[in-house]
Parts: sequence; C-alpha cells; structure tokens
Amino acid sequence: MPEVSSPKRRPLIAANWKMNKTPSETELFINEFLRALPPKLDSDVVVCPPFTSLALARSLIEGTAVALGAQNINENVSGAFTGEISPAMLVAVGCHYAIIGHSERRQLYGETDALIKKKIKAAFQNQLTPIACVGETLQEREANKTLEVVERQIRGALEGLPSAETQRIVLAYEPIWAIGTGKTASPAQAQEVHLAIRNILKDQYGSQTSLSVRILYGGSVKPDNMAELMACEDVDGGLVGGASLDAKSFAEIVNYKSKKRAGQ
Ligand code: 13P
Repeated sequence: MPEVSSPKRRPLIAANWKMNKTPSETELFINEFLRALPPKLDSDVVVCPPFTSLALARSLIEGTAVALGAQNINENVSGAFTGEISPAMLVAVGCHYAIIGHSERRQLYGETDALIKKKIKAAFQNQLTPIACVGETLQEREANKTLEVVERQIRGALEGLPSAETQRIVLAYEPIWAIGTGKTASPAQAQEVHLAIRNILKDQYGSQTSLSVRILYGGSVKPDNMAELMACEDVDGGLVGGASLDAKSFAEIVNYKSKKRAGQ
C-alpha cells in the first residue's frame, strides 16, 4: 500500500543521558552513533550529555543533523549561583535545546512549577528550545489523578508565556512510574495523556498552537516499542533515558520506521 502522507509534526527524538558518560565515553558513543545513522533523518535528533561533555559533543556533531541539548539550566543570567550554569553559557557551547523540569529534578532537587516556568522563560530569552517535562507518579495514576496533575504542571509551566513562544516549546510526557522501570506506558495510555495535553493547549492558546507543539513520550522507550508509540496520533517523538546510552540502541530508536517495516 502506498504510504499516506502524515499530517503529523516532524518527530523529535532526544537522548537524556542523565549523569552518565565521561568525555571519552561521549566520544566513543557519538562516533558509533553517527556511523549507525542513515544519511537523511526524518526526525530532529538531539543528544543531551552531562555539562562536562557538551563542548566535546559539539565538536563531534558539527556538520551533522544531530543537535545538542542540556539537561538543566539556571533561570538567572549570571551571578552568585555556585555550581549553576546559565542559558547563555549553554548556547555558547552549542546547545539548541534544554530539558527543563525533569521529574528527577522535581523530586530530588525540589523544582516547582513556578521555578520551571522561570526556567522556560529564561530558555526562550536565550533562543534555547525548552523540552519541558510533565508526568504523574504511580500513586497519582492509581488515584485517577493523572490528567489533573499533568494539567496543573502544564498550566503552571506555560502561564504568561506569549503564544509565539508556546508554539515552539517541546513538551515531554514522562509518567514517573515508567522511568527506568522497564514499564512503558501502553500506546493507549500515552495517547490518552498526549491528547489531553493537546486539548489543554487548545483551550489556553487555540488550535494553531495546539497543533504545532511537539509532545514527546518518555519512560522506558526502547527499540522494540518506539514504532508503536510513534504510531499514536499525538505522540511526536521520544525522550529516551537508559536506551539512549548505547549508540546502536539509540540509532535503532531513531530509525524506528525501518524497524517497523522490517517487522511487518
Ligand atoms: P528511561 O528511558 O531510562 O526510562 O528514562 C526516561 C527519562 O527519564 C528520559 O528523560
């Protein structure tokens, strides 16, 4: 059957390495990953290494279609914030994206919706595209609070953001119970929340924004489940943790379409 052209947004697939890989491990990964990629990519591909590998990663991906992202930013411009990194510093080492409000930062470092909102604003002020994360705990899911929690996080993060910026934000739905557990949300579970997020965007910003924002799924994404997640109408890509640490496995995830064809 001929392929029907999809009205979907261009997919974005991002690797979140978390606190993994030294610069020499980064070099090995990127060289192997670039060799495994097809010459033309159908998705935007972003690698988010730890801060200490950013400059090296930039030099290795230069001239390729792979983009660089940070895993966190500070919301201030500069000053007495020991241990923190400003958005402008990240832009200066080649970042185009920044993950903001990951559940590990919310849970382990006390990041609130109010702080996340400031970080998103700071990212836009520096031409960094935020990948803003939302998601519920297992307890919240079991109490039927998923949509309520996600709605609160989205409204909190986007409050007061001009619509031109909102259109460019990338959102990532990462159910906390699926992160690093091997328990992926089923495509139906992911689609339900992604559609709810799109409806919140529509309600707050109108159809154009809701149709242009890319909503990624994150939580135990693997080469084997990427294609079925991507088949969901409102899933526009993946934010990948564990499976992005291996170059071959992340390349397979990026190549999810050929994997699906091979399995048909
Ligand atoms: P895993 O893919 O290891 O479940 O991690 C998901 C995640 O937190 C990506 O940001």
